[in-house]
Amino acid sequence: MRESYLAGGRRTTISAERGAIRRLAENGFDLGRRVLVVTDDGVPSAYAESVAGQAKEARLCVIPHGESSKCFAVLENLLAELVRGGFDRHDCVLAVGGGVVGDLAGFAAATYMRGIDFYNVPTTLLAAVDSSVGGKTAIDFMGCKNIVGAFHQPRSVLIDPDVFGTLPDRQWRCGLAEAFKMALTCDRETFEMFEGFDSLDDAKAAVEEVVARAVRVKKAVVEADEREARLRKVLNFGHTLGHAIESAAGGKLLHGECVALGMLPMCATDLRVRVEKVLDRLGLPTRCGFRAEELREALMHDKKSAGEKIDAVLSEEAGTYLLCPLAPEELLGRYRATFEEEL
Ligand code: GLY
Repeated sequence: MRESYLAGGRRTTISAERGAIRRLAENGFDLGRRVLVVTDDGVPSAYAESVAGQAKEARLCVIPHGESSKCFAVLENLLAELVRGGFDRHDCVLAVGGGVVGDLAGFAAATYMRGIDFYNVPTTLLAAVDSSVGGKTAIDFMGCKNIVGAFHQPRSVLIDPDVFGTLPDRQWRCGLAEAFKMALTCDRETFEMFEGFDSLDDAKAAVEEVVARAVRVKKAVVEADEREARLRKVLNFGHTLGHAIESAAGGKLLHGECVALGMLPMCATDLRVRVEKVLDRLGLPTRCGFRAEELREALMHDKKSAGEKIDAVLSEEAGTYLLCPLAPEELLGRYRATFEEEL
């Protein structure tokens, strides 16, 4: 697959091909310059080493795995590497990792010398279908996720499905949940493709198709509304309640699992039954044991709150969505109706 989109005055190419991590130059990566390769200690080191080996002059930065690396201290280390390495505005930063590495390395690229080129090689399915495309870069600050950041579109994104082979099944499921989110709200045909998967293995076997379809939705949304004035909010489907569930779970549930749960109360009843079947077959959760009251505080602190209401995304029919401001009480009511009547 080879796609491109125009946003923020910059054209980004996205390629997906097995084995392509060894052929970056053929896929739009200009590495004949200084390249800061950023990865984390949870990513097999062979990937970043292979990427660094293709650059004229690479410096490798390995950050600690996990969300806590999205902070000023780690950002400062990356910026210090760029200064120490004598990087100028013709040089670039390249992320090899999941969403944390991409968000952080992208933000370093966005801020160094007022912005230098950024490339992304996502190594998780979740990052490939969502965060690597669209130019959102950020760190967390004072307990708020992604509160300090910038829009900085990558020059190129390269997705090599072979690297997903080392991912644990839970990570696969999380990536599939985000891809399914896009199908559910924007692409009925892809929704039906998901309905045809009998198991996680079925979905894994179709990974190239899943990636291509999710990337097509994502790039169309970003091209139309880079700054999330309206349409891009559709990508937050399942995330408002999902974030609140994630915070109630205190690390026991992964992001994609919470998004899967967060989608269910936002669907009309008939659609919810179909969505549950898909999630079940993939091995994603469809039951949530928290009481609505346990979610209230996190919901009120969601950064997408505007006054009394929260920008919510609903779906009544596969492949469609409605943007709808809802009071926290209405969201909690939907949550209760979906999960609490079963308790
Ligand atoms: N991950 C949501 C977005 O890119 O807008």
